[in-house]
Amino acid sequence: MTTNATPRFGDFHRILFFTGAGLSAESGIPTYRGKGGVWTEYDYEDYACQRAFARDPEKVWDFHDKRRAAVARCEPNDGHRIIADVQRERADTAVVTQNIDGLHARSGARDVVELHGSLWRVRCDRERVVRDDVTVPMTPRQCSCGAYWRPDIVWFEDALDPRNLERAQELLLACDLLVSVGTSGVVYPAAELPRIAMRSGATTVEINVEDTPVSALYQHRLRGKASEMLAAMR
Ligand code: OAD
Repeated sequence: MTTNATPRFGDFHRILFFTGAGLSAESGIPTYRGKGGVWTEYDYEDYACQRAFARDPEKVWDFHDKRRAAVARCEPNDGHRIIADVQRERADTAVVTQNIDGLHARSGARDVVELHGSLWRVRCDRERVVRDDVTVPMTPRQCSCGAYWRPDIVWFEDALDPRNLERAQELLLACDLLVSVGTSGVVYPAAELPRIAMRSGATTVEINVEDTPVSALYQHRLRGKASEMLAAMR
């Protein structure tokens, strides 16, 4: 069912935002797919998988340092701010993101579930430690044990952290409004989310500048820039 009336945040109690690269596009961070997308310019097999890192960690770090430098120059936009405001106004608002840029936290959002990890964390796979790191470029690249730190990001072919998946699932089952913002929906589990939320009776909204392969799964499809469509839901 698709209706024309735009749902308003004030009519719901447990709102879940599920966000993707389109939300940060207005901050100047490129999306992944399509014209100008990261994976249009770079082959993930050379820069964003464990095999590439094992083969040439310096090259993979150069790529990630470039992304860190670009993101460090960007600021959260009105879309991030509206989401943080809604969360402040309604305690039961949650944010699950595929973004690794940290802009939700910088705009004041709390307890953000980062499904794909963060550009701003590194981990030593040998010692199994994870730490925050905001240096640009990231230095030193090696842990004291001698192994390379690697970005704490879910790369291609990596498994999602089951704790994050479980948390996302709980939030989906509990929400009464799911708002998906700026994601192509092609990466697991993005396509599953509206199905789960709708099964538990939630209202579902997709915000995007264009239709996506999963648009038909949403009850409401708001077409336009993330910040403008979120503002329309206030
Ligand atoms: P994509 O690049 O696949 O999709 C971005 C979506 O945002 C597209 O559907 C665009 O139409 C939409 N969009 C662009 N600008 C917008 C705007 N101003 N307002 C609203 N929508 C806009 O990015 P994701 O779906 O986030 O994983 O990609 C999912 C995952 O694939 C990423 O987390 C990344 C990637 O591989 C990792 O890096 C681990």
